[in-house]
Amino acid sequence: MPMDDQSEMLNFIVDHVEVGLFAVDLDFRITLWNGFMAMHSGRSSEEVMGRHLFECFPELSSKWLERKIKNVFLLKHYAFTSWEQRPYLLRFPHNRSVTGGMEFMRQNCTFLPVKRGDTVQHVCVALFDYTDTALFQRQLTATIAALEVEKGEQRKLIAQLAEAQGQLLQAEKMASIGQLAAGVAHEINNPIGFVNGNFGSLESYITDLMSLLVAYEGLEGLLHQHPEALARVQVIKQEIDIGFLREDVPQLFKESRDGLDRVKRIVQELKDFSRVDQTEWQIANLHHCLDSTLGIVQNEVKYKAEVVKDYGDLPMVECMPSQLNQVFLNLLVNASQAITGHGQIVIRTAVENEWVVVSVSDTGAGIPPELIKRIFDPFFTTKPIGTGTGLGLSVSYSIVHRHGGRIEVDTKLGAGTTFSVWLPVVQSAKADQEA
Ligand SMILES: Nc1ncnc2c1ncn2[C@@H]1O[C@H](COP(=O)(O)OP(=O)(O)OP(=O)(O)O)[C@@H](O)[C@H]1O
Ligand SMILES: [Mg+2]
Repeated sequence: MPMDDQSEMLNFIVDHVEVGLFAVDLDFRITLWNGFMAMHSGRSSEEVMGRHLFECFPELSSKWLERKIKNVFLLKHYAFTSWEQRPYLLRFPHNRSVTGGMEFMRQNCTFLPVKRGDTVQHVCVALFDYTDTALFQRQLTATIAALEVEKGEQRKLIAQLAEAQGQLLQAEKMASIGQLAAGVAHEINNPIGFVNGNFGSLESYITDLMSLLVAYEGLEGLLHQHPEALARVQVIKQEIDIGFLREDVPQLFKESRDGLDRVKRIVQELKDFSRVDQTEWQIANLHHCLDSTLGIVQNEVKYKAEVVKDYGDLPMVECMPSQLNQVFLNLLVNASQAITGHGQIVIRTAVENEWVVVSVSDTGAGIPPELIKRIFDPFFTTKPIGTGTGLGLSVSYSIVHRHGGRIEVDTKLGAGTTFSVWLPVVQSAKADQEA
């Protein structure tokens, strides 16, 4: 292709290409202005050629653009600005219907040093229309944000579902264990009743026999005339170690009575657990309940912990106070038992909408995560044999559940535990719960 043809073709392309092209010299005089620029700026090439860029377009962000162009002259290096850093160079109205909606173009700009030899004589600026991409990206960003929000909501929902399922499982487990507990309590109740009765008689019979023995011993002086008979009595007394027997019998009675009392207490707790004995619904002041319970456990707690009361403004609550007392007692005793050495127990009360919250926090050992699921199971205990029966929390759970409430646990190993009891202020659905 002859030289002229080639430059004609290049001129044609520059003029018709769908890219804005213009150039300036060192004095910022416009030395190139292609068709795209003319069409979109509304200023023809004849109008602007040879004129100062910023005089022609005072709306151009001159400081920034001046520095940018000067740098290209100076550094002799290509430069670039994307629409994300600077939406546009020239505020062209964007009139293509495809993109619609967007008022102005988004532009990417490149700054090209046009060199002759080693000196830069012009800087050519190319404006690329990125409106479609920008619009699309804006929609994409909005969609991603909406999806993120939805994802968050779904995550919350899944967590709520898992919690609801957990509570349901727990409630089901408790209901079936409740039946079992009621059966066991009933079965143990009868034998323990007659063992207890017989034990009372046995104790009084033995006491009678002992006094008879004392009376006989008083007569031993009369046996001097019958030395063999006296010797036989002495042998028997020695064989049965009468001295020890006298000492040990009352001890045995005391220990057995304690044992019986413990069994009775367990049966009572099992009954409470399975709600064999319902007490009356009343309107009660929970602070009174807490204070009276504190009085009962004071002995157990006072050496272990300082008790801090942080009572809020509570309304009267419809509840079975004697049962709630048991819950508070269990939580307080557990809190105190969790503390090694000396610690602190905080009892906090608050109202939240239709609910009251009573929480008992301790500075004790905390509960290992793998055990949290089991602490409400009847007979689950980590305490030494003879210390805990493992019924405290299961009884508390069923009492609170009967009140239409729930118990929450928040614990940190080595730092302490908070049990929060949530109770509805009024028992609107009481009939349903009892059904
Ligand atoms: N405040 C607490 N801090 C640490 N662990 C606790 C706390 N409360 C309960 N636990 C754990 O939960 C277990 C079950 O408690 P629960 O009250 O049901 O039974 P227990 O205290 O062992 O025996 P019981 O209450 O029948 O005398 C406890 O053995 C203990 O491991
Ligand atoms: Mg306990």
